[in-house]
Amino acid sequence: SKQAIVIQAALPLECDELVKQLHNVSRETRGGWVFWHGTYAGIDIIVSKTRMGMTNAAAATAIAIECFQPKAIINQGTSGGHDPQLNVFDIVLGEKVANINTVKTPVAAVGEGSNALTWVEAFDMLPEDESDPEPIRQRFYAADAGLMQAAQVVAAQYTEGKVVEGVIGSADCWNNELDRIAFLRQQYGTSVEEMEAASVAQVAIQYGVPMLAIRVVSNNITNNGQYNPDSGRACQAFVLEVVKQYATA
Ligand code: 5AD
Repeated sequence: SKQAIVIQAALPLECDELVKQLHNVSRETRGGWVFWHGTYAGIDIIVSKTRMGMTNAAAATAIAIECFQPKAIINQGTSGGHDPQLNVFDIVLGEKVANINTVKTPVAAVGEGSNALTWVEAFDMLPEDESDPEPIRQRFYAADAGLMQAAQVVAAQYTEGKVVEGVIGSADCWNNELDRIAFLRQQYGTSVEEMEAASVAQVAIQYGVPMLAIRVVSNNITNNGQYNPDSGRACQAFVLEVVKQYATA
């Protein structure tokens, strides 16, 4: 359907509640990716389980756009805090998202080892000049303004934590080194990390489909915030309110 809004989640604990809320649900699989099509508050919604990581998220996004021509995509779910001010259950609206694992390393000789804290050069995966094989530049994908506005309206109603705007950093990596987390935060200004949003943004922008990432903090090693899977449920409830706001705005 041309009017559907796609809500993505990597894991069952990030989409089960969404699927439960849908009316007249039909389920289909394309390759390894599951899509539930239904309505919520009269709004046409597709819940997409992308599975974990950048490649899965990119594939699920391209399939969703090609098959369903959605009017918008929300990528949502759990994340790990980079900002010590953020607590488990706080929500980050992805004002910008970035792939934090695009790297051109310094040259080092045999026996000189490897130090990720020296990896300051980033690759731009969407360079305007495609003839440049080494486009060294950080790439940020900006949130869609209309989706962000809807999320900001709903932010005031969220009772399980605070809602902030920030940079969401994505990589096929779960960082547990505090020096590396501080380094990434210094390089990219990240509020949280996760494994999908930048990949989704990179595909959505090439199709011109509006996209926003909304991520709940499920763990934060910078302030001893213990992993809580119930944060995934809180994020889904928040996202449904955003969708309602967006559809009626
Ligand atoms: N680092 C990376 N990914 C995380 N996720 C939750 N917390 C983190 C973290 N600290 C999300 C990812 C992925 C799954 C492991 O959970 O987006 O889908």
